[in-house]
Amino acid sequence: MKPSKVLIALFAMVMIASFVLAGCATPTAAPTTETESQAPTEAAPAPEGEKVPVGIVLPTKDEPRWIQDETRFRDALTAAGYQVEILFSQGDSAKEKANVEALISKGIKVLIICPQDGTAAAAAANAARDAGVKVISYDRLIRDTDAVDYYVTFDSIAVGESQAQYLVDKASGSGNPLYLYAGAASDNNAFLFFEGAWNVLQPKIADGTFVIKNSSEAEALKDKATLTRDEMSKIIGQVTTNWDFNTAKNLAESNLTAAAAADKGNVFILAPNDGTARAIADAFAADKDVTSYVVTGQDAEKASVQYIIDGKQSMTVLKDVRTLVGDAIAAAVAYLTGGTPEQTNTYNNGAKDVPAKPSEVIAVDKANVQSAIIDSGYWPASDFTGLP
Ligand code: BGC
Repeated sequence: MKPSKVLIALFAMVMIASFVLAGCATPTAAPTTETESQAPTEAAPAPEGEKVPVGIVLPTKDEPRWIQDETRFRDALTAAGYQVEILFSQGDSAKEKANVEALISKGIKVLIICPQDGTAAAAAANAARDAGVKVISYDRLIRDTDAVDYYVTFDSIAVGESQAQYLVDKASGSGNPLYLYAGAASDNNAFLFFEGAWNVLQPKIADGTFVIKNSSEAEALKDKATLTRDEMSKIIGQVTTNWDFNTAKNLAESNLTAAAAADKGNVFILAPNDGTARAIADAFAADKDVTSYVVTGQDAEKASVQYIIDGKQSMTVLKDVRTLVGDAIAAAVAYLTGGTPEQTNTYNNGAKDVPAKPSEVIAVDKANVQSAIIDSGYWPASDFTGLP
């Protein structure tokens, strides 16, 4: 059996055991095969009175990234014959806390939560800890509380490094215009992505390969190889997209309006994720003084894979959500069976070093889109037109 199938089989066994322990009906089916990705469906709340050992809270339905996670969780958990409760916070920390409280009152033992706002979510994590629930921070780290037991994540510094390396590899000569964009300051990942990008870009800004065109804060710090969190905050504050497509588009347009024609030409753009990359790319494509652009992304969203095939986005970073979901389920199973999840790293969240297991990421462009996205089974070829 493939490791993923072993995991699903193990999870099925644990679910059956926990249902029996909780005096509940045995799940009807416990197949041990993976299902194909399906269109997302509405969360199926657990029947009243039934104990729900694991609850999942995701940040928003408004970004395809989190619908990906919902679908992959649902696929893995329903394959195990288990009814899962997945709630969305819709960008609202108060709703997030209410979601967590609702799950606690349903008797969850493990909470898997991707925080909307990493610091605000500490209150929800504390409430879970006080109710004896294990807290797994999912993808984004919950900050400033010791109520986080484990962190499942991708290597977010590697994400930023991979985006920046792509820009460096495509640039030649000196004086190349560089436009920087970042994620939301309320998301710890935005700092990790930026830190990774800065690791690779800073020497190339210092040596004149790139010239920053849209951030006076970054320009002022261009000779500093390592930035403090406060220094990154200043830059991110100036170039944040807030993970929002319209904010990204408006910011790119205002940067282009402020820039002279000489600051355009063949431009290089650090865009933090796919949704913002498409918005920013569209703004740059519409500017008559932009001759060509190289733009990064992240998440391998379907729309961006199509943009890459069509030459409208240069690259994305594939973070295989199937791996993250598998790691989160494995960690939940470890807690439900009295064990401890596998740990390879720690991430400091301001209050403690949180045990973690970061997963690798893969840079994808037109050259490897077939092998990385289609042949790997991440998305089916039929979802795209014009594959190379
Ligand atoms: C995630 C990215 C996502 C972004 C916006 C980050 O925390 O790691 O995958 O694109 O949030 O939702």
